[in-house]
Amino acid sequence: MIQPRPFSLDIGSAPESAAQFDHRLERRLSSLRGQFSDAQAFAEKMAQGDPVAYEVLEILRPEEQGELLSGLSIVHPGKVGREYFMTKGHFHSVRATAEIYYCLRGQGCMVMENESGDWDVQQFLPGRVVYVAPGWAHRSVNTSPTESLMTFFVYPAHAGHDYATIERNGFRKLVVDDNGSPTIIDNPRWSAGARTHV
Ligand code: F6R
Ligand code: ZN
Repeated sequence: MIQPRPFSLDIGSAPESAAQFDHRLERRLSSLRGQFSDAQAFAEKMAQGDPVAYEVLEILRPEEQGELLSGLSIVHPGKVGREYFMTKGHFHSVRATAEIYYCLRGQGCMVMENESGDWDVQQFLPGRVVYVAPGWAHRSVNTSPTESLMTFFVYPAHAGHDYATIERNGFRKLVVDDNGSPTIIDNPRWSAGARTHV
């Protein structure tokens, strides 16, 4: 068992000092197969290699109530067709758990939706906090053509992750590049009928 002990992290001055984190997860574009609306653009991008779309640096703590999990999410710049590189996105398995994201660098947005039919998109700018309310699925999108989107996240350690619900239909809304401007559009693949509660 990891004993509860206080600790501190330097994320303002040296967010790239990965040595502070216990675990590094790398997600390549292939792990987002089926999530981009332009299948041909996805195939073309994959044919050029399978780039790292994002990384997650985590502080490991016991996944139990009372603890908090925290770390850095780094979404690299890139596009598949008109859609920007993004995270897979998920609901928390324990729906009644929220999450805080603090944007350190870059620009982008957090796409969110709940199971009551509501959706929301909040903009990420350095210094801005985005609050993901309990019951809201969330996906980070990097809208910068050149810079990585770096955010610090913290959430209850017992939350768990439900990726399957999003993998089935994606999010209701997509963020696409419309002549250089990030624009929110309906996801043609999303269907309310296919959405089931877990
Ligand atoms: C944890 C959380 C973040 C994400 C990270 C990668 O609940 O929201 O740590 O896990 O931004 O995104 P996903 O997990 O959707 O691949
Ligand atoms: Zn989360």
